[in-house]
Amino acid sequence: MKKISLKQYNSFGIDVKATNLISIESEIDIINFLEKKKNDKILILGGGTNILFTKDIDYPILKIEIKGIEIINEDEDEVLVSVGAGENWNDLVWWSIENNFGGLENLVSIPGNVGSAPIQNIGAYGKEINEVIENCRGIFIKNSTMKIFNKDECKFSYRSSIFKEELKDKFIISNVTLRLTKRNHKINTEYKSLQNTLIQRGDTNPSIKNIAEFVHSIRSNKLPNYKKIGNAGSFFKNPLIKKDKLKEIRLSCPDIVSHKTKGSEYKISAAWLIENCGFKKIEVNNVTVHKKQALVIINSGNAKGIDIYNFSQKIKKTVREKFDILLEEEVNIL
Ligand code: EPU
Repeated sequence: MKKISLKQYNSFGIDVKATNLISIESEIDIINFLEKKKNDKILILGGGTNILFTKDIDYPILKIEIKGIEIINEDEDEVLVSVGAGENWNDLVWWSIENNFGGLENLVSIPGNVGSAPIQNIGAYGKEINEVIENCRGIFIKNSTMKIFNKDECKFSYRSSIFKEELKDKFIISNVTLRLTKRNHKINTEYKSLQNTLIQRGDTNPSIKNIAEFVHSIRSNKLPNYKKIGNAGSFFKNPLIKKDKLKEIRLSCPDIVSHKTKGSEYKISAAWLIENCGFKKIEVNNVTVHKKQALVIINSGNAKGIDIYNFSQKIKKTVREKFDILLEEEVNIL
């Protein structure tokens, strides 16, 4: 069988090969594929923006290209929007802004597809997708049955959900329904850099469009565009630690960046930990971290997937040795 390069299908720009890449444009396509499949091992590929390929893929890859944005219900206050998993997330955000539907504005400019967004409960600038999710529909790989998961059943948590845990590699999301506001938008400006932008501009009453534009500009100043520099956004999650542990670290590192969570733990800035281990000055085999955001590992040349993986493990080991904190990958490694 002819091998296909996956370089254009992953935001790190890794040139691994696939033997069987299948385009999926509908739920029927999924069921047709599942009924003929020989074993359960498949890769479900969305936008490829949160994945690191370290080797060739010799099992089927389903490239999800299910399209469609449809208003399925509305009243004076809210609208339910049903979206195909293969729609581009950022295009959906701008569509919502143009229609004056609120709820997605803080999540502008996040790369990737709509179907992948709930899996890792994408979040940025004070918002997480779970706040607007009505349900996620999809199909079980094992027996081709369809199920709609309501928001509670999705078991959302920081950068995770049932689809990333119990149902990892077991369920294919085909459609996501979002509940957005038509008026009385809940403008969220609690994130510090967003607040600073508003203060600088003297803007006390921003619209959802203003928020989207500000977040877009903050992001494009800080995060590399993967079309120019290969990356997959934050490589690790921000770790959670107990108060005692934070107190202990503060003794030697008083300026460590942390935020109290709703629980009793503290979220530590992984970017700060990585920067303070000196990784902004280290480059190995065309792999380094972004100078403006140390949590983003970048492919600065023609790095191989395994080089990026090795670099990430070097970061993990150094952070563990220096701070006794274990970083957990956010990116899926294959
Ligand atoms: N910082 C450093 N060094 C750096 C960068 C940041 O010390 O190189 C410190 C600064 O003190 C800064 C703080 O870390 O104030 C927080 O940085 P930032 O606002 O960039 O947020 P983050 O916690 O590093 C998270 C998400 C990002 C999201 C931003 C904004 C995770 C794993 N990452 O990053 O998501 O865009 O908040 O809300 O939660 C992604 O998931 O791919 C992603 C980019």
